[in-house]
Amino acid sequence: VSIRREDYMPFPWLVPQVAMDFALGLDETRVVTTLTVERNPAAEASKTIRLNGDEIVPVEVTVDGEGWSDWCMDGDDLLVTLPGAAHTIAVTTHIAPAANTKLMGLYASDGMLCTQCEAEGFRRIAFFPDRPDVLSTYRVRMSGDREAFPVLLCNGNLEAEGEDGEAHWAEWHDPWPKPSYLFALVAGQLVANSDSFTTMGGREVALNIWVRDGDLPRTGHAMESLKKSMKWDEEVFGREYDLDLFNIVAVSDFNMGAMENKGLNVFNTKYVLADEETATDGDFDGIEAVIAHEYFHNWSGNRVTCRDWFQLSLKEGFTVLRDQLFSQDMGSAPVKRIEDVRILRGVQFPEDSGPLAHPIRPDSYQEISNFYTSTIYNKGAEVIRMMRTMAGPERFRAGTDLYFERHDGEAATCEDFVRAMEDGAGLDLKQFRLWYAQAGTPKVTARLEHSGDTATLHLSQHVPATPGQPDKKPMPIPLKLALYDRDSRERGAEQLVVLDGEELTLGYPGFATRPVLSINRGFSAPIVVEREVSSDELVFLATHDDDPFARYEALQELVVRHLKAGASGTLSAEARQEGELAVADAMAAVLADSDLDDLMRGELLLLPSETYVAETMERADPAVIHAERQGLRASLARALETEFLALYERAAAVPFAMSAEAKGARKVKTQALAYLAAAFPDRAAEMAFAQYASADNMTDRQGALMVLTGLDVVERTNALIDFYNRYQGNALVIDKWFALQASSMHPHCLEHVRALADHRDFTLKNPNRVRSLYMAFAANPHAFHAADGEGYRMIADLILALDPINPQTASRFVPPLGRWRRIEPGRSALMKAQLERLAAADLSRDTAEQVSRSLG
Ligand code: ARG
Ligand code: ZN
Repeated sequence: VSIRREDYMPFPWLVPQVAMDFALGLDETRVVTTLTVERNPAAEASKTIRLNGDEIVPVEVTVDGEGWSDWCMDGDDLLVTLPGAAHTIAVTTHIAPAANTKLMGLYASDGMLCTQCEAEGFRRIAFFPDRPDVLSTYRVRMSGDREAFPVLLCNGNLEAEGEDGEAHWAEWHDPWPKPSYLFALVAGQLVANSDSFTTMGGREVALNIWVRDGDLPRTGHAMESLKKSMKWDEEVFGREYDLDLFNIVAVSDFNMGAMENKGLNVFNTKYVLADEETATDGDFDGIEAVIAHEYFHNWSGNRVTCRDWFQLSLKEGFTVLRDQLFSQDMGSAPVKRIEDVRILRGVQFPEDSGPLAHPIRPDSYQEISNFYTSTIYNKGAEVIRMMRTMAGPERFRAGTDLYFERHDGEAATCEDFVRAMEDGAGLDLKQFRLWYAQAGTPKVTARLEHSGDTATLHLSQHVPATPGQPDKKPMPIPLKLALYDRDSRERGAEQLVVLDGEELTLGYPGFATRPVLSINRGFSAPIVVEREVSSDELVFLATHDDDPFARYEALQELVVRHLKAGASGTLSAEARQEGELAVADAMAAVLADSDLDDLMRGELLLLPSETYVAETMERADPAVIHAERQGLRASLARALETEFLALYERAAAVPFAMSAEAKGARKVKTQALAYLAAAFPDRAAEMAFAQYASADNMTDRQGALMVLTGLDVVERTNALIDFYNRYQGNALVIDKWFALQASSMHPHCLEHVRALADHRDFTLKNPNRVRSLYMAFAANPHAFHAADGEGYRMIADLILALDPINPQTASRFVPPLGRWRRIEPGRSALMKAQLERLAAADLSRDTAEQVSRSLG
């Protein structure tokens, strides 16, 4: 059954207050939930109240303190008939946290109890109108064994606690009205890294990061990130924290990254725990970004929440933009921008061009968990970023101020946000609203003509058809552009052009010779640009463009062009050599450019991913793309052997530090190694093993192991065994060990994955472990797309095994198979056959929806 956005109706009842009483136990927890309800004057009156449930039964129902029999079940929901306009309803339920493998609702992780309620997990704890537009204040009492659950946490403030024989109890009160999806409860043996933050208004906030005993030394970076986030949100968005307490708890079994529950964020350990010996530079950056993201939700999500789940991007797109801007300010802004675009192109573009394409504000869904997508999050962030680009940062801030002021305490819509931007930032967004309604990545064609002393730029746009949306209207596309004089290398002024029709022509006088066009600078719009540009001009931009993104882009385009020409099979040996030479020249310039910092150099050295190259083709042959890309890597290593060796030596001499300089050195060091490995495997293996053995940090050690894992050398096995023994017992590092093997360039990768599934440390019960093996594999084109279809079968087998345990995580493995229409016919048929095999099975709603959409 599809739920449709246009069917939205306000809930007939208000629930101003909720009181909950938990008797905690791992095997059984008893919950009494008392709701104060009154008729909602803004909705049509109803005699019954629908309280959603999921795998729970009502053990006892009372209304206004009296035993009540005027109720019935409708599927999973409890319908209670109420005589008057205001009542108190109390329902008792029993839940079994230890048996909850879906990790939604109340569940056990590592012996502790924790919750995940977004989007519809609260109904697995208590019968409740489990929708984001029902806001209540919560008072929660919990009691449990003092030894098993010494720490008892909930949203808001601790108001009372006490002892009761072997048991103890705590009473929490959250003064801020919230929807049920922001409820959280944690009970277990935890220790805290405690600190404090004084807000701009002078409120002293106690900060705690709760972890398992031995993990305390790895919480410092998360705490620093939290304090930086709190400061930054005050300075940049004027947002201040609003409770005296902010708790974060790290749990090892978690479906997603983290959750912004009011005053009690629950995190995947992956986004909390780090030190230099066990976490990479990338892990550190991920923690900083996710801590910020969840903290920023306190305003964009909690104080202003969503009316319904179709508005998910209202909080997620906006909060992703906020965390991106934060990370830009904390580190290298251009590098962060490039990384964000890489994620968008690597994950969201394929989503937008496939069977699962949906607008950032979808029109319908069957299972909302399937819509926590890169489109909602990352494209959603890009859409808001475009508004910021058009308004400029000051007017954008005026718009967000107005949004928060107008809608504080409300459940709002995307439309509310756009209107606040119009009124506060002074933008006309009438046509811009199409970005919320239309799916698909717009394609902009740019053609520059030159005659006499005038250059003429012809722009046109096309938004491709997507499922359910055959015809598209042109959208307003803000393009930052500039023209370079070829001879003087001088750049004309940067211009912001909004292409809002199908076509636009712009004239630029004063160019005696043909200028070079730099377009979509800073990636000002989330689109595909097709430009008529010579390789020469791309090399010019790749070496001279002063916009770091545009420079990166030119180099990527040069490489993509070369790889596509190679993959087409029509390239003469001579033309291939010429192409390789052009790329090698551009790369040589990158290696030699002393104005570049190493973090940026590392971005420029990165070859476009096989997935990205495939995405630029109608139908891709993954094996051919893989061979071309590896071939190019080897040829670059041969052409630039001395340069890569010199880079390696220079970077290896930089001592460990967390500075941008030292992080950059680590990044280019391992990249140099990866290049050299493609052409000189034996020598590279020796270097990599030395780097592995002498590493004083995880970035270097993992980087070296990554290179070794892709090679058929004896050092490979030795290093993998050493790594496992060294880090046995550290789940997050063992995850890396699985992931490295599943994402390796080794020709036997698929066999390795099959064997690893039988490893004693592998389990389907832990999402991080499942993802480290199988998501890494599904994202590794040469292995996943094995010509005989064994990769597809393996993923379908996984889905069938995982679906009954954890449907939310299982359904995430369907999209890789959903790419079948864009893959060459032989593999395509094998992929489709696996989808059909899945469709014939008895699947969860999550997985069934993804399979049926994927088959189309
Ligand atoms: N709101 C969370 C975040 O953006 C994501 C939680 C979604 N969880 C889920 N089970 N669907 O950080
Ligand atoms: Zn979020």
